Amino acid sequence: MSVESVVRSDIANPALAAEGKKRIEWAGRNMPVLAQIKERFEKEKPFTGIRISACMHVTTETANLMLALKAGGAELALCASNPLSTQDDTAAALVHEYGISVFAKNAIDRDGYYAHINASLDVKPHLVFDDGCDLVNTLHTTRTELLDGILGGCEETTTGVIRLVQMAKDGALKFPMVAVNDTDTKHMFDNRFGTGQSTLDAIFRSTNLLLAGSTFVVAGFGYCGKGVAERAKGMGADVIVTEIDPTKALDARMQGYRVMPMIEAAKLGDFFVTVTGNRDVLREEHFAVMKDGAVLANSGHFDIEIDVKWLEANAQVKNSKIRHQTDEYVMPDGRRILLLAEGRLVNLGAAEGHPAVVMDMSFSDQALTAEWVLKEIDSLTPGVHDVPTHIDKEVARLKLASMGVTVDTLTPAQEHYLNSWEHGS
Ligand SMILES: NC(=O)c1ccc[n+]([C@@H]2O[C@H](COP(=O)([O-])OP(=O)(O)OC[C@H]3O[C@@H](n4cnc5c(N)ncnc54)[C@H](O)[C@@H]3O)[C@@H](O)[C@H]2O)c1
Repeated sequence: MSVESVVRSDIANPALAAEGKKRIEWAGRNMPVLAQIKERFEKEKPFTGIRISACMHVTTETANLMLALKAGGAELALCASNPLSTQDDTAAALVHEYGISVFAKNAIDRDGYYAHINASLDVKPHLVFDDGCDLVNTLHTTRTELLDGILGGCEETTTGVIRLVQMAKDGALKFPMVAVNDTDTKHMFDNRFGTGQSTLDAIFRSTNLLLAGSTFVVAGFGYCGKGVAERAKGMGADVIVTEIDPTKALDARMQGYRVMPMIEAAKLGDFFVTVTGNRDVLREEHFAVMKDGAVLANSGHFDIEIDVKWLEANAQVKNSKIRHQTDEYVMPDGRRILLLAEGRLVNLGAAEGHPAVVMDMSFSDQALTAEWVLKEIDSLTPGVHDVPTHIDKEVARLKLASMGVTVDTLTPAQEHYLNSWEHGS
């Protein structure tokens, strides 16, 4: 395939392009919503003349988002939002098979990371896509000469949104940014179904233990906890939920799970999964009463939910990597506690993270949001904005269409009824 002459890059190994292309195509086969959006973009070209800098995980799913934006007429420059997640074959394929500028190498150092962000900004973007706010931050600190040309952008993660909100509070944020993280379609697929499946996948890959008949403790019954609990229950486990929020705890109980404090659950569990976003959820007092062979995994964002430091300091023996991503800590009384993926995000550490079909939803939200930002640019003020509900609904509608599912629509009388207040009993 011919490559445009303007393509710039700094990647690890161009020879990986063919391998990367195969994997990008595989992910694409599992991203039916984005495929429908790409098809429309190809016809309507909403990004003609628009330059986009994107700072995102350089993965096969992101590659498909880039291809959809390119089909819509955009000129793109992609850099990595985390050097550890960069797939060098994906980077190579984007450059050499698809003609997209990429600046990303797996495990590059901090200076290289920022050099790549700067290189992607050299395209002088109109729109920015960020994942963690480092690109937007660089724009507002060292590349301020580009600010005037920026129309707006999207942010993918909670962490990035927190930084943007702070910038907006200080009056520092100079253009509108949309928080794509908070859509229903993202939460449903990513937190609930994605984390639910891939967390169990990680446990199976690491331990190959049978869930049926086991006691499975889920700490936190938010979006992610619900997903993990549902999947474990579906595999025949007796699921116990621990919570600190009475409404969430009640919800768990009403759905048939046992609910109790962790100090009680700790004595019963064969498996423990933390998904609270909070620290020290499993700690000394819990380790002290766990059964021999208890398996611990964390699927929350940071590796603070299980007190690994305590295990490291107090285990009599540590048998590292007795299986895939499994460390065994032998307690002074001989009980063995198994920790998966060192207490880090288990579905990324011991499995492959979310399936492409999950990222399909988040990236479809991104693609439609970018199009909306351009349309609404005159009414959007600098600051952090929510994704409009109609985009969330459109992504859900396209997903249903891809599954061959249709739903009812309101009759005119129903629409009138729902939009009026005159009717009484
Ligand atoms: N593994 C993944 O791929 C993945 C995907 C999305 C989110 N996450 C992460 O998972 C974590 C949870 O996300 P979420 O969307 O479910 O959040 P959420 O806010 O919906 O749920 C968290 C729940 O944990 C509860 N909780 C807090 N402290 C607790 C404690 N000490 N004991 C028991 N319960 C406690 C809260 O009351 C809440 O109900 C976050 O860190 C998030 O970043 C991971």
